[in-house]
Amino acid sequence: MKKLKIASLPGDGVGKEVVPAAQTVLKAISDVHGGLRFDFTEYPWSCEHYLKHDQMMPDDALDKLKDADAIFLGAVGNQKLVPDHISLWGMLIKIRREFEQVINIRPAKLLKGITSPLANPKDFDLLVVRENSEGEYSEVGGRIFRGEDEVAIQNAVFSRRGSERAMRYAFELAAKRKKHVTSATKSNGIVHSMPFWDEVFQSVKTDYPDIGTDSQHIDALAAFFVTQPQRFDVIVASNLFGDVLTDIGAAIMGSIGIAPAANINVNGKYPSMFEPVHGSAPDIVGKGIANPIGQIWTAKLMLDHFGEEELGNKLLDIIEDVTAAGILTPDLGGKYGTKEVTGAIAERILKL
Ligand code: NAD
Ligand code: IPM
Ligand code: MN
Repeated sequence: MKKLKIASLPGDGVGKEVVPAAQTVLKAISDVHGGLRFDFTEYPWSCEHYLKHDQMMPDDALDKLKDADAIFLGAVGNQKLVPDHISLWGMLIKIRREFEQVINIRPAKLLKGITSPLANPKDFDLLVVRENSEGEYSEVGGRIFRGEDEVAIQNAVFSRRGSERAMRYAFELAAKRKKHVTSATKSNGIVHSMPFWDEVFQSVKTDYPDIGTDSQHIDALAAFFVTQPQRFDVIVASNLFGDVLTDIGAAIMGSIGIAPAANINVNGKYPSMFEPVHGSAPDIVGKGIANPIGQIWTAKLMLDHFGEEELGNKLLDIIEDVTAAGILTPDLGGKYGTKEVTGAIAERILKL
């Protein structure tokens, strides 16, 4: 029996709706697969926790999480209660950094039964490898002066080690896919970090002669995501570029509510964290219509991470069976709720 200890962090907003939904699906998986069990421990850390305790997570939070086999997170953020930079840096980004989850993988492809907003989406199947620990997301900088003279300075941090690590990760994944890596750059406008990023890419690619490459400026690349997503296989991007690109990736899949993601700790020292691309969706919270597929597809990435790829692929097939049957939430033009979509997926698993 393989027992997996999962720390469950529903967080805020629809996180509290879609995490239990995905847990139902994982429970169904262990019911049919006698050899696999998920032991969930839930932590109620959130903006509400902040209001009561003046912090997003308790002092010993990372100690509590560190022995888990994985962290399963919904979403963090409720700007009505706590400013985003406090809630996110106090929880989501803190965990990503302290647990050295330096790579964020975010696939995008079109599932049957889902209408893309693109007129001609054909079969795109791409994967963004987002550098997840540095880049534009940095604490280096500050605010000086006041009033009209006030200045905010935000420094981006690009290390050779961090950039190279993300690029190598992208090449390794491309070797198992369509063997192409696109680097997202902006070396025409950003004079220090991006020429450096390009140099590192040029040097890393010489180690992977079988993989095709190209570099695209992020503005043009964003447009190609819309006009020709089929041209891409793996895209490697800095933290912010990867963030923006993956919301576009989600949009062309039909909804941000279905896009999955995984924050990977590559050195095995700490747990990896699995959370969908979307946020806490305050505009639909409590209505029972949050799309659970982003969180459930994220559970598939977690299964892959545990070496259960066959099961992970089966889960994605079942998700696609349900979308193909038109069992969709309103963000995808459907009339079903979180419970119905989750139930349809769990039911099909139990029939396996
Ligand atoms: P968002 O992803 O929460 O919402 C954007 C739009 O997508 C909204 O219209 C929302 O209803 C819709 N949407 C999102 N998830 C959905 C789902 N599962 N089903 C159906 N529709 C869905 O982005 P935002 O509005 O920019 O952010 C809201 C809050 O979430 C902010 O506090 C933000 O900082 C936070 N956030 C957190 C994460 C995370 O924890 N990983 C990611 C993004 C945003
Ligand atoms: C994401 C989110 C986060 C990010 C925010 C909420 C800090 O947008 O995971 O995509 O930018 O990484
Ligand atoms: Mn984002």
